[in-house]
Amino acid sequence: MTNALQQAITLLQGAKQICILTGAGISAESGIPTFRDKQTGLWENFRAEDLASIEAFDRDPKLVWSWYQWRRNLVIDKQPNPAHYALANLEQWAINHNKTFYLITQNVDDLHEQAGIKATHLHGHLWKNKCSQCEASYDADNDYTQDMLLKCPLCDAYIRPDIVWFGEMLPHDEWQLAEYAVNNCDVFISIGTSSLVYPAAGLLQVAKRQGARIIEINLNPTQNPIIDLVISGKAGEILPSLVSALE
Ligand code: APR
Repeated sequence: MTNALQQAITLLQGAKQICILTGAGISAESGIPTFRDKQTGLWENFRAEDLASIEAFDRDPKLVWSWYQWRRNLVIDKQPNPAHYALANLEQWAINHNKTFYLITQNVDDLHEQAGIKATHLHGHLWKNKCSQCEASYDADNDYTQDMLLKCPLCDAYIRPDIVWFGEMLPHDEWQLAEYAVNNCDVFISIGTSSLVYPAAGLLQVAKRQGARIIEINLNPTQNPIIDLVISGKAGEILPSLVSALE
């Protein structure tokens, strides 16, 4: 076992409250491209940042809707990978050892849930829709090959994915829960996120300020100086080794 894994085990064994933040990197081994990977196929000339905003939707709702339908098609058959299952086992280990455990995710897929663990989703849900005006939730049919725009039956505005776009507020209850979890944790693990997008990325600073030890698991670590322990590599390889060594 590497020295870094051994140190992580010691930190987890001593923790009372463990808080995990995941990003797109945890789903990469399930075959879902990360955000800062170059886009492929039809969308290779677009940046995610230029499609995921209300300005982009107002300018060209069909383009943005088509991109999300394409992403839904890409994600629909994807399965959790060993990293998702290892986190479900880590939660169980924490419960068995009287530790409090919180999983916060920036991901809009539901692979954590498919692996049997409930996550607090800061950036919304790929499979949900809402009205772009009155915000009423909308159950679309599930044909993700259809690019046709849908309209709200209540106010006739376009339906959009229920996802937090650049420039939008995070959902209130989820953010409050995340802040509470981080404010009381003594170990914080950041997994597969570039930590470039705020306010989620700011949770690392919140954890650090109140004295938590920060661990990062990343294929290309972020070089953030506030991180106490970096474990470099694939989440789908590191997390199962870490969790099986705890058991
Ligand atoms: N294991 C661990 N880490 C990985 C793996 C892997 N197999 N593959 C990639 N990574 C890391 C990359 O090195 C990178 O640091 O995952 C990170 C992915 O970063 P981003 O693509 O920026 O994803 P994320 O941090 O989740 O993006 C945050 O940005 O576009 C918005 O709302 C969107 O939630 C998203 C937010």
